[in-house]
Amino acid sequence: MTQRGTRLNRPSYLLVAPDLPTLYRNAVDEFRRCANAAVNEFGRFCVALSGGNTPRGLYELLAQEPAASLPWDKIHIFFGDERHVPQDNPDSNYRMVRETLISKVAIPEANVHRVRAELDAQAAAEDYEKQIRDVFKPQPGEFPFFDLVLLGMGDDGHTASLFPGTAALQETARFVVANHVEKMNTDRITLTLPVLNNAANVVFLVCGAGKAQVMQDVFSANNNSAYPASSIHPTHGRLLWIVDRDAASLFAS
Ligand code: 6PG
Repeated sequence: MTQRGTRLNRPSYLLVAPDLPTLYRNAVDEFRRCANAAVNEFGRFCVALSGGNTPRGLYELLAQEPAASLPWDKIHIFFGDERHVPQDNPDSNYRMVRETLISKVAIPEANVHRVRAELDAQAAAEDYEKQIRDVFKPQPGEFPFFDLVLLGMGDDGHTASLFPGTAALQETARFVVANHVEKMNTDRITLTLPVLNNAANVVFLVCGAGKAQVMQDVFSANNNSAYPASSIHPTHGRLLWIVDRDAASLFAS
């Protein structure tokens, strides 16, 4: 059962797990809560998964859950972002999620909405936005309503592929953009802030002492930072940070 987190400003919560296994167990509980609530209310659960290393442990645990505990036939998997590489590239977020989760659960293939990052970055972004529009069928001016968005955070405060100082942070209309990340000399494809902030639930998973300073900065009272993660404030939804003690070591016990 997810412990009740510390309430922060707006409907946002911080849950400090004593260790990584507990962080992942809490994340599984939160995923299951969101999935069952969405399926009960809407008949389906649309989740945007995060890439990187931290969520691997969550995906591996989800793959071990009893089949009956998660309605995989009613779950739609999207990606918060993707590297501009083919799907079999070791850096591909899709490849990581396929290996840890998708290949091990009974999710219909049509319910996995992959960023076709083998295309030109702009074309991949447009194709992915069309996939999202086809599923959510938003009215003009509306943004898609993900039931859950999982996010990580880099030590520079980036989240998804919204890196400090990059153009994607300014996007107010498109759902998906190709974002050039100068410092990494690469393109990324990413959901935009209006989409992320339109979600019913946003859950950050952050662990490790290497994230302690950026966590303290993001959570500092006078935070008016340029950290993209600080721009995640769900308009109507719930924001939950599930972090381990190491990541929270500079500001919370
Ligand atoms: C990605 C992620 C990215 C990630 C952070 C944290 O594509 O890499 O979307 O935003 O969540 O970089 O990554 P770690 O979990 O590996 O620290």
